[in-house]
Amino acid sequence: MTAGLDPALLSRVRELAGRFPTKRAALLPALWEVQKSSGWISPEALSAVAGALDLAPADAAAVASFYFLFARAPGGAKVIDVCDSFVCLANGGAELLDELCSRLGISAGDTTADGRFTVRRQECLAACHQAPAVQVNLEYRGPITSAEALLAELA
Ligand code: FES
Repeated sequence: MTAGLDPALLSRVRELAGRFPTKRAALLPALWEVQKSSGWISPEALSAVAGALDLAPADAAAVASFYFLFARAPGGAKVIDVCDSFVCLANGGAELLDELCSRLGISAGDTTADGRFTVRRQECLAACHQAPAVQVNLEYRGPITSAEALLAELA
């Protein structure tokens, strides 16, 4: 076993590497697999992916840190991403983010003390037609206009 990845996930990363003309080209989907599997990309998992793809760990880290939807720290059981870009701001995104944070007693980027929720401010989620756009554990939900209703649904 490669430290940082369970055997099934390591196998999936190697399978992805075989689908692309170069192993490097499989880096984004490999990181996505890790993110989907554990909710975040630990330093150990990042090193394991880099090793499986014959990349320097710094190369993998540079890519993982560039894309904002790759979490580099563990979050709550439900990670709520709220778009903070123009279309969503014009359609109540800022108010929604504020209300979510207020109801949960946290600031954007934080996790509740019980570990149930993380709320993050994000760049455009590519769902502008659903403004204000929200993702919960990377699944689109939207448009969301009521923080109270969203939290009740997720409770
Ligand atoms: S501006 Fe919010 S999803 Fe694009």
